[in-house]
Amino acid sequence: MSIVEKAAEKLKALPLESGQPQPLQTETKPVPKAPMVERLQERTRMLDQPAESAPLCVVDLAALKRMSVLPADDDAERRLADELRRVKRPLLDNAFGAGAETFARAKRIVVTSAEAGEGKTFTALNLALSLAHETDFEVLLVDGDIPKSDITRIFGLSGEGGLMDVLADEQRAPAEVIVRTDVPNLLVVPAGKRHPLAAELFRSRRMEYVLDQWGGQHRGRLMVFDSPPLLAASESQVLASHMGQVVVVVAAGRTRRQAVNSALQRLNDLQYVGLILNMSDLSADESYYDNDHESHSRDR
Ligand SMILES: Nc1ncnc2c1ncn2[C@@H]1O[C@H](COP(=O)(O)OP(=O)(O)O)[C@@H](O)[C@H]1O
Ligand SMILES: [Mg+2]
Repeated sequence: MSIVEKAAEKLKALPLESGQPQPLQTETKPVPKAPMVERLQERTRMLDQPAESAPLCVVDLAALKRMSVLPADDDAERRLADELRRVKRPLLDNAFGAGAETFARAKRIVVTSAEAGEGKTFTALNLALSLAHETDFEVLLVDGDIPKSDITRIFGLSGEGGLMDVLADEQRAPAEVIVRTDVPNLLVVPAGKRHPLAAELFRSRRMEYVLDQWGGQHRGRLMVFDSPPLLAASESQVLASHMGQVVVVVAAGRTRRQAVNSALQRLNDLQYVGLILNMSDLSADESYYDNDHESHSRDR
């Protein structure tokens, strides 16, 4: 059975829907909009660092909490940390451990989902922060959701050069758009300027070169990409095709199983695919389905 088929099998057992098939829903909670972001931007400063040429972005974690892009209270924080530990284990194993032989490009991780509003950005940000807490490597969080660019706005980096700029302009060095943050080991790449040929640029050889420059020379660097929904934008599938590991976020009780299945069909068999059931009250044990483990309790 292929990796994607295995993921689809696991999906069948997930308690996604209750009773009748639910219509697809998009955003249930509003994504952070301008006023909040502007408030954050006031607190996020770019400082010149004499020792290094890259700018430094000062991240105000309290402001991120108020924007509800980080867990709101200690209890939610503990639950998420517990869940992320389980998510991280196979990802790290594939990137640096025994699984590294199996999955090429496993240091590239994309967080995606079938539809909008399922928690891709929330998961990508919290996963990147959680990975950055491990001391052995750096984490490059890349905003690959060009139309929404929520990661860019969350870090107050709107208007800064980013992914699209180094793809569109071969004269620009990929490293130019990396922004250091005051969170140890966390680096960010903003989305950059929108481009009408985003899918073509994602498909180009330049894309592979840029990703290689960002990650290839740094054996201890992981990349985490936020992305658009797999079913809504063709560039999402193209972006995912460059990645060795894919984390698919599924909003519990909202997304139709068929939609998640269609999303999984857009991934390929060379990738590690892990599913996260987001916004559910299942324990962390039950809400992450990684493909190496066949036995998960689904009695609920
Ligand atoms: N596990 C979670 N706990 C609390 N809030 C969440 C969680 N997942 C998502 N959210 C919130 O739900 C909204 C939609 O999530 P978001 O990550 O922006 O979705 P997407 O990137 O898939 O469109 C945001 O306001 C986000 O902060
Ligand atoms: Mg998003």
